[in-house]
Amino acid sequence: MSGVLAIASSPRKKGNSEILLDACLEGVAEAGITFEKIRVCELKISPCLNCGGCEATGVCVINDDMQALHKKFSESEILIVSSPVFFMGLPAQLKAMVDRCQAIWVRKYVLKQRMANIERRRALFIQVGGMKRENVFEGGLMTITAFFATLDYKFSERLLLNRIDSKGAVATHPSALARARQMGLDIARGESVIEERSNRLGKAD
Ligand SMILES: Cc1cc2nc3c(=O)[nH]c(=O)nc-3n(C[C@H](O)[C@H](O)[C@H](O)COP(=O)(O)O)c2cc1C
Repeated sequence: MSGVLAIASSPRKKGNSEILLDACLEGVAEAGITFEKIRVCELKISPCLNCGGCEATGVCVINDDMQALHKKFSESEILIVSSPVFFMGLPAQLKAMVDRCQAIWVRKYVLKQRMANIERRRALFIQVGGMKRENVFEGGLMTITAFFATLDYKFSERLLLNRIDSKGAVATHPSALARARQMGLDIARGESVIEERSNRLGKAD
């Protein structure tokens, strides 16, 4: 099996979503699978220009760190994305990364090119919000669902936690950390399954 690609998207280093991602990666490591963790905020990713440059080729014309990321997406059978909730959605850095996958959308839906090993490609999503309202995850989930589908990743599992706001507050939630770790262990062992709960929009877990 190819290694795991993990994307941390909070601009807050070692923030809540990254702590959960790290717990998840402990589970991946426990299963004996290697991983690469990328902090998307440390990459140079310009927003999509809707210039149409990818429409004939499926290759984005903007030359920045996204080119290397496209290659990693092609090669990685397991993807784990962690994110805070920003204004009921995804942080701008992650949204820019997602939008720049329009070239991959063209490959799949226009050029009819699929990823290799699609039956083995699976993804997890971890999101943390500070508010009490349970529907804070709806926006991010809709975008991430479309993103995973475009990249031919089966949406295997998610962990959504609200009411977690101050930096590092999630560290005092051992059950959430244990669940994240178990998710990593399960997906690395190939044991994750799509749960009905995972398709229920917007409610915290
Ligand atoms: C710009 C910004 C917008 C935010 N918007 C929301 C929001 O709409 N809903 C919510 O529940 N939390 C919101 N939050 C709170 C964060 O989601 C929360 O602090 C979370 O724990 C941050 O995760 P992190 O430590 O991984 O960055 C916002 C925080 C910031 C900085």
